[in-house]
Amino acid sequence: MYLSITQACLRDFCQPGIFYSNLAVLKLFNMKQIQNIEEYRAEYQKSIENPESFWAEIAQEFLWYKKWDNVLQWNFETPEIKWFEGGKTNICANAIDRHLEKFGDKTAIIFEPNDPNSPSQKISYRELHTSVCKLANALESLGVTKGDRVCIYMPMIPEGAIAMLACARIGAIHSVVFAGFGAESLKGRINDSNCKLLITADAFHRGNKKIALKEIADEAMADTPSIEHCLVYNHINEKISMVAGRDISWHTLVSVQPDTHEPVAMDSEAPLFLLYTSGSTGKPKGVQHTTAGYMIFMAYTFKQVFNYKDGEIYFCTADIGWVTGHSYTLYGPLLNGGTTVIFEGIPTYPDHGRFWDIVDKHKVNILYTAPTAIRSLETFGTEIFKTKDLSSLRVLGSVGEPINEEAWQWYYQNVGKNRCPIVDTWWQTETGGILISPIAYATPMKPAFATLPLPGVQPLLVDENGNEVKGNPAEGRLCMRFPWPGMARTLYGNHERFKQTYFTTYKNLYFSGDGAKRDGNGMYRITGRVDDVINVSGHRIGTGEVEEAINSHDLVVESAVVGYPHEIKGQGLYAYVICVDKSGNVHNLPEEVKKIVSDKIGAFARPDKIQIVPGLPKTRSGKIMRRILRKIAEGDISNLGDTTTLIDPSVVDKIVEGALNQ
Ligand code: PRX
Repeated sequence: MYLSITQACLRDFCQPGIFYSNLAVLKLFNMKQIQNIEEYRAEYQKSIENPESFWAEIAQEFLWYKKWDNVLQWNFETPEIKWFEGGKTNICANAIDRHLEKFGDKTAIIFEPNDPNSPSQKISYRELHTSVCKLANALESLGVTKGDRVCIYMPMIPEGAIAMLACARIGAIHSVVFAGFGAESLKGRINDSNCKLLITADAFHRGNKKIALKEIADEAMADTPSIEHCLVYNHINEKISMVAGRDISWHTLVSVQPDTHEPVAMDSEAPLFLLYTSGSTGKPKGVQHTTAGYMIFMAYTFKQVFNYKDGEIYFCTADIGWVTGHSYTLYGPLLNGGTTVIFEGIPTYPDHGRFWDIVDKHKVNILYTAPTAIRSLETFGTEIFKTKDLSSLRVLGSVGEPINEEAWQWYYQNVGKNRCPIVDTWWQTETGGILISPIAYATPMKPAFATLPLPGVQPLLVDENGNEVKGNPAEGRLCMRFPWPGMARTLYGNHERFKQTYFTTYKNLYFSGDGAKRDGNGMYRITGRVDDVINVSGHRIGTGEVEEAINSHDLVVESAVVGYPHEIKGQGLYAYVICVDKSGNVHNLPEEVKKIVSDKIGAFARPDKIQIVPGLPKTRSGKIMRRILRKIAEGDISNLGDTTTLIDPSVVDKIVEGALNQ
């Protein structure tokens, strides 16, 4: 049955020009879900022995305008990775149009607003199609076309998703910037990829805070020469200023557009989106994902990992401004014809029962959230669960940072009532989708372990010299030896940096930047970053970016930022700051430093602790010895290791003394 459908797909769809006539034939993904560990092992084996036929079989279930010529061409040295080259498809058509004939009335998106007293909204696939087509026409009327970059700076509302889908439909490359970022970050991202259009909203509420989005966008647009227009969605009727000729009202422009739009046939390897993420050094990188491989990988991993069943309600709490929001709030569920919840608010507003109220209200079956949210809700105790009905839940997910065992158990017992599997999913912006994770109801779980690689994923651990650490148990740096369809292809405008960051540390391997352990059964536990990236509440923050913001303060000479263990956030930011005024009269500097980081990057990057120091521990070559600063921040000052290579070892004593007096 399965084969005959895929054969039918091949026969019917892999030819140009017969796209719409075949929609009626299409079913929801028929891809077989893995049911148990034996099936997992068999599927895994198949994917390793012949990756090309493995992925081609899955790819056949999609709508193609033209079939591919080659399944895979790759070289990790250059690096060059091409999946389904020669093929033409459109991810928006696969996420919406293919469902219309049979499932047009099915709910695609449930919108839950920040204010629980405002009505929630259900958007069917047909309604979503109309909204996306209208916006696609509107974008084209503004001269936006295939390959143009469009920056999306939106609250967590359906229009953010509609904007992404409309870009994908016309072949424009979306670059979503999380609405928690400040003007400086927005400006940098727009300018790095020369976005032509900015899509934003007037303002929004998150919890009881109001964020004046358009005002921040205006500040950024004072210095973004590539922006021709700014499309503004009126979300809360905020009074805003509109610049004549540049700013256009979404409502005015979109309301007059036709409600159909022919999707643009895109090359498999055409860029789909850019998403900026932090690295150890330098400016944030525009991670570039392409069309077909990303689409196939998200659809496959979503369906397998969450064991998604037709008709289920799926709630991923991630904002579309992050990769989890792209892959598993939006594309993964829609490609599977699923129902996805978009939540505008925060877990603690109006009280700490909000997630559970949403689960109860919408009868959510699958909940996917971050360990930080779990830990912060844990602090409120379990009394709240007595009044909430969570019986609809079937699968729980965790993402973004290591989940400690205590949080895992709390989630399992109180939210999952000891009956819902937890999938602890390890992946990255660069990987596009989940690489290592349990498969719900099929493969084993182990608290704090991401467990086993998904089919098609070939991880290994290497030591510092790049030698593979074989056998179990083992510990090392986590790498991949073979490409998977959803992986990033480059960094926008900087292929050399892409190569240097991920492919040169260890020859012929993709290096993740994470350390990991493998237990006696070959299950992976991610131990955290081995570079200078800090993971605060699941948000990736580069120390360099924060230091740059701090150093821009007039009274700051230099700074060094490190991570330290934080009970709720996983890691907190500890900033050591050298002040111009050596007398120690630091005015209100710590508070000002926190504010400048909030303003320039975003509130989520605000340092937790600031220590004013007389100097930093530097080696003769001028390198800051962060190892020492990390230990002091952790409060572990008993053994700071060898400090003899420092220019001035006495500075360490002064920093320790200052830390103890904090
Ligand atoms: O350190 C790993 C951590 O988050 C990093 C990737 O961050 P980002 O690109 O922002 O993507 C987050 C959403 C996938 C990784 O290098 N990380 C992500 N998931 C896990 C994790 N660490 C441990 N366990 C996880 N499940």
